[in-house]
Amino acid sequence: MDVSKGPVRLGIIGCGNVTEKRHLPAIQSLSGLQVVALADIDHDRLNRVADRFRIAKRYNDYRALLADQDVSAVAVCAPLSFHTEMALGALEAGKHVLVEKPLASSLDQADTLIERAAQSPCRVIVGYNLRWHRLVRQARELIQQGKLGRIELAVASFTAGTHYKRDVLEWKKRRALGGGVLMEFATHYFDLWRFLLDAEVQEVHATTRSDQWDDVTGTLTAYLNNGVLATAYLSEWTTERNELHIYGQAGSLHLSLYRFDGLEYVPLFTAPGDISSRLSRFARSLKQVPRAVRYYRRGGEYYASFIGQWRHFAESIHEAAPLECTLEDGRRALQIALAAAKSASTGQPVRVEQAPREITPLAQDQLADN
Ligand SMILES: NC(=O)c1ccc[n+]([C@@H]2O[C@H](COP(=O)([O-])OP(=O)(O)OC[C@H]3O[C@@H](n4cnc5c(N)ncnc54)[C@H](O)[C@@H]3O)[C@@H](O)[C@H]2O)c1
Repeated sequence: MDVSKGPVRLGIIGCGNVTEKRHLPAIQSLSGLQVVALADIDHDRLNRVADRFRIAKRYNDYRALLADQDVSAVAVCAPLSFHTEMALGALEAGKHVLVEKPLASSLDQADTLIERAAQSPCRVIVGYNLRWHRLVRQARELIQQGKLGRIELAVASFTAGTHYKRDVLEWKKRRALGGGVLMEFATHYFDLWRFLLDAEVQEVHATTRSDQWDDVTGTLTAYLNNGVLATAYLSEWTTERNELHIYGQAGSLHLSLYRFDGLEYVPLFTAPGDISSRLSRFARSLKQVPRAVRYYRRGGEYYASFIGQWRHFAESIHEAAPLECTLEDGRRALQIALAAAKSASTGQPVRVEQAPREITPLAQDQLADN
């Protein structure tokens, strides 16, 4: 990376969970980027995070961060309803932008961003960090090499114990504000299915359950334009898991994204639990232990995907390298999420091209004992 002009000087808006636990530790390990300013409306949180990562400039109003001439790039890590105004403001101030997923609350907002970004020399990417997960990259290569043959099925599960966390803000509990498993979790797969399978999602059918929060648990099936059938199991009220299983006519791939040795290729006519598969898996795991130990201290394999994402962002600025995970990719994943939200409200499958332009709220009879 050409860093002769010095590191990219980054300002981050929103000092919540993803900034404190993922972005800031990841960026600390890179020489091409330096976080020089933070903004958050929560004064205590802002100071606590800025103290922890020794960041001097602190703003309660994000517009002051945008006006700071020392900041050359901005990460928008505030709740979904602020993504568009903050990203547009950053572009207007001449800053490069990384906007967290999902891109926006509506297709109109996404289109405005795409239009403004096209008129700006600044780089803009959307934060689907799993594109930079080492195992996802390896899986993509194997699929492109044809190791799986024609793909039949993609099965994914993303679950977490969000309900056990103490400081969950209101927006995470409301679908219309970007919360719940469709907007928060499933959107990662809407992007990954496109990235891994080089195909577009045509139709989705989602079912969710809402208790104290909207869409706490859900299932979803999707039909891709290359004939692949995809499903996702999602819950914010159980144990941590993030897995993808891709079944082809010549073999299958199993990815467990929180495990350093979480990629398994199963050729045709092989039982995954047989002794030779177990032994070769054990040998492969042993070989990867040094890397696992290295990354364990920094938060594990999953966390490394954020390092990859930020390295790519810095390189795209320093070297004007082609961008991955563009605004158009973000719009596409958003459109699938909007179709999924409508499906969960109506109980009917929804064609992605016919998705509503905004988030469909929960139907009245789905608002259980909120
Ligand atoms: N890529 C990923 O894997 C990943 C993971 C988690 C969250 N996210 C995304 O990142 C974003 C933030 O998620 P989070 O989990 O950190 O949320 P969070 O609720 O933990 O934090 C949001 C922060 O934004 C602050 N904020 C709210 N309004 C603001 C404003 N007007 N100006 C400045 N700050 C404001 C809040 O005070 C809070 O500190 C969301 O879009 C979410 O979907 C991405």
